[in-house]
Order: sequence, then structure tokens, then C-alpha cells
Amino acid sequence: MSNNTQRYRVCEVQDLIPESGVAVWTPAGPVAIFYLPAQTPSLYAISHHDPFSGANVLARGITGDLKGHLVVASPIYKQHFDLRSGVCLEDDSVRVPTFAVHLNGEDVIVEVPAEVVAAETA
Ligand code: FES
Repeated sequence: MSNNTQRYRVCEVQDLIPESGVAVWTPAGPVAIFYLPAQTPSLYAISHHDPFSGANVLARGITGDLKGHLVVASPIYKQHFDLRSGVCLEDDSVRVPTFAVHLNGEDVIVEVPAEVVAAETA
């Protein structure tokens, strides 16, 4: 863990849906957590906010493998976002925030940049 992040318990492992996403709330806004049991690591977290449609929908997208990238497809306009980098595969000038995510026992922990937390509580 970095000193520049704050850890948030956002849900429990049984709240996750294999091969799919769940949306959780953090001080950095809504985050989409994807559980891909066949991958290493098996957990990925990116912003839930789709920059193309302006809607909070990415956790409801279909996950898959596209040209070697683990991706989620936006349910609105179908752009693909790389789950590791947040980069849009159709327009690499667009990138959604990504977050470190891991398990602590049964708890799913997301790391949020400390400056986001500071701004939120200021
Ligand atoms: S889908 Fe991979 S670069 Fe366009």
C-alpha cells in the first residue's frame, strides 16, 4: 500500500459477481469493481462513470478479452475500456481512472488517492 492512498472497505467478497461488475461508492465517486476469477489478479477497479455517455454505467458492461486487453464494454455506446489502464481502446485520448483493489479476508478494499479524500473532506 502507498502512503498516498486511503483504503476503503466497499463490500464483501460475496457481493461480487464472477465475470461481471458491481458499482460501489467511494470518496473518488462511483467505482466499478470487476471480479474475473480466471485472471491474475482477479479483481479490477475503474471509474463507474462512462465519459462518452456521462452516465454511471460501466459496472454493468460486458467483460471480455479484446486484442489481448482485459476490457469492459460500455453498455451505452460500446466503447471498450482496458481494466488495467482505464484507456479506451477506440480512442486512446480517453482514459477512465483506475484504482488498486484487493481482498482483506472477506472485505473488498479499494485504494483512493489521498488528495481526492482531502478535497472531499475539505
Ligand atoms: S480495439 Fe484494440 S486498438 Fe481498437
